[in-house]
Amino acid sequence: MVEGEVQHGLEDVVALESRICFIDGKGGRLIYQGYDIRDLAAQSTFEEVAYLLWYGRLPTAAQLRDLKDRLVQLRTIPPGVLEIIDRIPRDSSPMDVLRTAVSALAVFEPAETQPGASSIGGAQRLTAVLPTILGYYHRRRSGLEPLAPHPGAGHAAYLLAAVSDRPATELEVRALDVALILHADHELNASTFAARVTASTLSDLYSAVTSAIGTLKGPLHGGANERVMELLDEIDKPERSDEVIRARLARHERIMGFGHRVYKVEDPRATILRDWSRRVGEAHNDLHYYRILREVESVVHREKGLYPNVDLYSGSIYTLLGVPKDLFTPLFAASRVVGWTAHVLEEYQDLRLIRPMARYIGPTDLTYTPIGQRS
Ligand code: ACO
Repeated sequence: MVEGEVQHGLEDVVALESRICFIDGKGGRLIYQGYDIRDLAAQSTFEEVAYLLWYGRLPTAAQLRDLKDRLVQLRTIPPGVLEIIDRIPRDSSPMDVLRTAVSALAVFEPAETQPGASSIGGAQRLTAVLPTILGYYHRRRSGLEPLAPHPGAGHAAYLLAAVSDRPATELEVRALDVALILHADHELNASTFAARVTASTLSDLYSAVTSAIGTLKGPLHGGANERVMELLDEIDKPERSDEVIRARLARHERIMGFGHRVYKVEDPRATILRDWSRRVGEAHNDLHYYRILREVESVVHREKGLYPNVDLYSGSIYTLLGVPKDLFTPLFAASRVVGWTAHVLEEYQDLRLIRPMARYIGPTDLTYTPIGQRS
C-alpha cells in the first residue's frame, strides 16, 4: 500500500488491534477469542459463546448458569418502548423497527447505556431484549398471541418462539443455536466497524448498536440471505440453476450468498450451515432448497470461481423453521449484537477517536456568486 493512496472500501486497511475475533481468509478459519468456530458450533451454545466474546474466556458451569438466568431476567421491554413500536406502521421493515426500538430504549434506561467497563450490563440487556422486540412486533402484525415469557427457554428457543409461527423441535432450536453462534462476531465487518466508530467518539453503547443495526440492514451485508431465497424461488428447480445464474451474470448482477472481502476460500460458516441445511431438510422431508443450492454453488463456482459465504444456506434453514424472510436480517442482528457490544467494550478500554481522511478531488478556487446573480 502506497502512502496517501486511497484504499476504496478500506480494503486491506488494518484499522485497530483486537483480541476478539480472527479471520484466516486464506486458510478458511474463523476464531473467537482463540477458539475455532468449528469446535464452538459443534460443542457450545450461543450463551457460552456470548460469555466468551464478552469476557475473553469460556465460562464455568456456574458462570454460564448465571448468564443464562440474567438474560432471561432482562427480556422485558419498558411500556414506553412498546407504545413507540405500536405506532410504527405494520408493513415496516423489521430492521427499522429494531433500530428504532433500540434507540428508544436508550431514553428509558440511560444508566445501562453509559460508556465504560460497566457497559457489559447494557450489552447483556440488549442481547436479552432483541428477541422480545422482534416477537412483539412480528406477532402483533401477524395477529398472533403475544409472545409468552418462556422463563425456562434458552436464548435460541426464545428467539425462535418470537419469530416463528409454530412450535419448534429440539433439532430446530439447535439449528438456530448454531446459526447464532456462527453469526455472533466477524472481526471488523461493516456493522461492527460502524459500532466501533460510534463508540470511539465516547458515545454510548445503545447509540453504537443503533449505528450497527442501520449498517447491517444493507443488502451487501446483512440482507443477502433474504435475496438468496428470492433467487431460489425464481430458479424453482435445480436443473434451471444454470440458465438463471448465467442470465444474471450476463446482466452483471451479483449472486447473493457468494464472495467475501476477506475469505478467499470457502467461508467456514457456510460449510457448517450447508450441513445444517441438509439436516433440517431431511428432518422435514423437504430438500427442495438444499438441492437447488448445491446446484447454484457448482454453477457459480464454475462461472466465477466464487465460494459461498455465510448467507448462502442460512435462509434455507430459517424458512424450514417457519421464519418469514423479512426477519432473517433481524435474526442476524439478534446474534451479532454480542459481537457489536464486545467490540464496543474493547473500544472503550483502548479508546482512540476513529477518524480517517479523504483525498479531496474537488476544486478549491471557485468564486462565490451571490444567489441573485446565478443562472
Ligand atoms: N456475484 C458475482 N460477482 C461477484 C460477487 C457475487 N456475489 N462477489 C464478487 N464478485 C465479483 C465482482 O463483480 C468483481 O468482479 P470484477 O473484478 O470482474 O468486477 C470481483 O468479484 C471482486 O468483487 P468486489 O466487489 O471487489 O469484492 P468485495 O470484496 O468488495 O465484495 C462482497 C465482497 C460485497 C461480499 C461481494 O462478494 C458481494 O457483493 N457478494 C454478494 C452479497 C453477499 O452475499 N453479501 C454477504 C456477505 S457476508 C456478510 O456480510 C454476512
